[in-house]
Amino acid sequence: MKKAALLGILVLAVCFAACNSESGSATGASNSDSPYAAQVDSLLSIMTLEEKIGQMNQYNGFWNVTGPVPAGDEAANKKYEHLKKGWVGSMLNVRGVENVRAVQKIAVEESRLGIPLIIGFDVIHGYKTLSPIPLAESASWDLEAISNSAKVAAAESAASGINWTFAPMVDIGRDPRWGRVMEGAGEDPYLGSLIAAARVKGFQGDDLSDPFTIAACTKHFAGYGFAEGGKDYNTADFGTSTLYNMVLPPFKATVDADVKTFMNSFNVLNGIPATGDQFLQREVLKGKWNFQGFVVSDWGSIGEMIAHGYAEDGKHAAELAANAGSDMDMESYLYVEHLAELVRNGRVDETYITDAARRILTVKYELGLFEDPYRYCDEAREQETIGKAEHQEAVLDMAKKSIVLLKNDNNLLPLKKSGQRIAVIGQFANDKNSPLGSWRIAADDNTAVTLLEGLAAYPDNSITYAEGAAVTVGENSFVMEAAINEDDKSGFAEARRVARAADVVIMNLGEVGWQSGEGRSRVNIDLPGVQQELLEAVYEVNPNIVLVLQNGRPLALPWADENIPAIVEAWQLGTQSGNAIAQVLYGDYNPSGKMPMTTPRDKGQIPIYYNHKSTGRPVIPAPNLVFWSHYMDESNAPLYPFGHGLSYTTFQYEGLAVNANGDGTFKVSFTLTNTGAIKGKEVAQLYIQDVAASVTRPVRELKGFQMVELAPGASQEISFTLTDTELGFYDNDGEFVVEDGLYRVFIGGSSATEYSAEFTR
Ligand code: BGC
Repeated sequence: MKKAALLGILVLAVCFAACNSESGSATGASNSDSPYAAQVDSLLSIMTLEEKIGQMNQYNGFWNVTGPVPAGDEAANKKYEHLKKGWVGSMLNVRGVENVRAVQKIAVEESRLGIPLIIGFDVIHGYKTLSPIPLAESASWDLEAISNSAKVAAAESAASGINWTFAPMVDIGRDPRWGRVMEGAGEDPYLGSLIAAARVKGFQGDDLSDPFTIAACTKHFAGYGFAEGGKDYNTADFGTSTLYNMVLPPFKATVDADVKTFMNSFNVLNGIPATGDQFLQREVLKGKWNFQGFVVSDWGSIGEMIAHGYAEDGKHAAELAANAGSDMDMESYLYVEHLAELVRNGRVDETYITDAARRILTVKYELGLFEDPYRYCDEAREQETIGKAEHQEAVLDMAKKSIVLLKNDNNLLPLKKSGQRIAVIGQFANDKNSPLGSWRIAADDNTAVTLLEGLAAYPDNSITYAEGAAVTVGENSFVMEAAINEDDKSGFAEARRVARAADVVIMNLGEVGWQSGEGRSRVNIDLPGVQQELLEAVYEVNPNIVLVLQNGRPLALPWADENIPAIVEAWQLGTQSGNAIAQVLYGDYNPSGKMPMTTPRDKGQIPIYYNHKSTGRPVIPAPNLVFWSHYMDESNAPLYPFGHGLSYTTFQYEGLAVNANGDGTFKVSFTLTNTGAIKGKEVAQLYIQDVAASVTRPVRELKGFQMVELAPGASQEISFTLTDTELGFYDNDGEFVVEDGLYRVFIGGSSATEYSAEFTR
């Protein structure tokens, strides 16, 4: 620390004008608006080319950092040598104060300039205390709760030495086969943009140098969620209208929310690997959007441009990535290896190197790392912060809000609190691991509250448990696919026995925590293994079933929807999972979640999303006529539409009116009434359709929502103002346009609402 601070003072005086003259020369270059511009430029002026490139180099954690570097481990020794030379700007996957302090110490005390490292980690839905998976959180539509969940994650990870998370993932997810839909906010760019900004705000707070906040990283730029066939890492290919209107808005929203970093992506988009895409990174992100932070590559994605068939070799890949605006190389080892030579040979302009280093150093200043490189390394804070009661309460709150009541015939739910014989069936009800979901590297295994544990808080009912069938055989692992139980039904008889003797059966079925996430695409989006058969076998003896789903993606379960009276979408809810589900089942929390993704009836309908374009033949022109846009063997309708979610009460929408305000804006108003018997929250949704436009618009698009809590019988007048922001769209040149003509507005409790009005702009 002493060395770094001293250095800051020394260099202030040096060469300010000379360094500044480089800014602005390259496309999308950083500008000098930052309060740290003078310090950063002074520092840059005394850095060698190799040291600047060093800032652009990120290494994964590489040995037990508190011990000696193992003899004979060449890779680790090389990384250690590079650290000492000041050739490493960042490390990822080093965590815990003791470890972070150890690597930071090498960078700060042993390298020539003592520039501190920025320490990155995938803090995706909590650090040790886990929130629901991000897709589940998004089902809450509760921006404040989501932001608070990110704040808790920031506090715990920052206390553990981390100062940079690789989150939020803002990729639009339309394909439930893609395992990473669990990590995003679903299919809608409007909801996705608001959630993305809320997460950035939660991670970064108002002051990045506050030791309880961390830098966020918007990923994956861009198109990663459109992997063909839902197969992870696959090619993406879509037109400009989709790019500008569907894919880019959540990214832009985070730039507006002052996100500090971006990550590019593994995929090829329209023939160009995103990592080597100048248009995306230089023209759009750093140029048009004036993003001042830095872009990190995805893991090894610079090197992967060779396999993509875009770069001839590692050196060529480094050249393409640096020229395209990828500022930091995560684990390809190619910048550190080749960039200096590429600059000397004139293949990469040094202004790009200086610009990248400037961006990285600026974020380090903003984090307060130059003031104190050990700002995030406080053992006492680590002890006090991680897992504290307040965090448990926050993730419980978030978990309850994330649950979606999909179906509730005959008011089977909420459960009566006494005198009931309840059979609980399914592996997950007794599984402390799966509710933690995917992407939870720092959390300890088996730390979730199970459903059985949650239900135990209601002691006046009797509970009998039967596993029914194991979902996996053996351990969760990287080869999960092979470990699903496809045949063992030996527990069915016991499950049927306990079900027969019960008033109500709770079946907790779904996916193992590791069945979604990176590299976990599925061809089938049903209940894995023999669970569907188990459900049907139990149904035969007692149809009074509450199906509690636990999953990382929407599951297509048409049989369940047709036959099972109550279905609860409980995702993977994190540490407090069982408590949250129990409180919802018993009505201590009235469910308020709404689906952030369309649920198909059948995987063959994929891609299926509510904001699709109309075809020229959208409806059947005459009975039995075949020539319209449909399937012969399945309806066009989803199982559950985007925005769907029930409550234990009911809501009525009436009195819809649209009035011009006279200033080019329009007021949409209506009355919402709680028509049921208990207090409840409704997410009132507003969709618009631009009926005829110069580039065709979706059949409807979410453009507003409000969460309203009403006592039984109570009504509230609700209004939205539609401005050009809501009415406009991006044309095929990426320009935002607003057009005159007829608009339709729809309001209701899901995207399937038909309650509408029209107005003319
Ligand atoms: C993922 C990123 C992640 C990175 C670092 C990659 O495989 O695609 O989302 O942040 O690894 O763990």
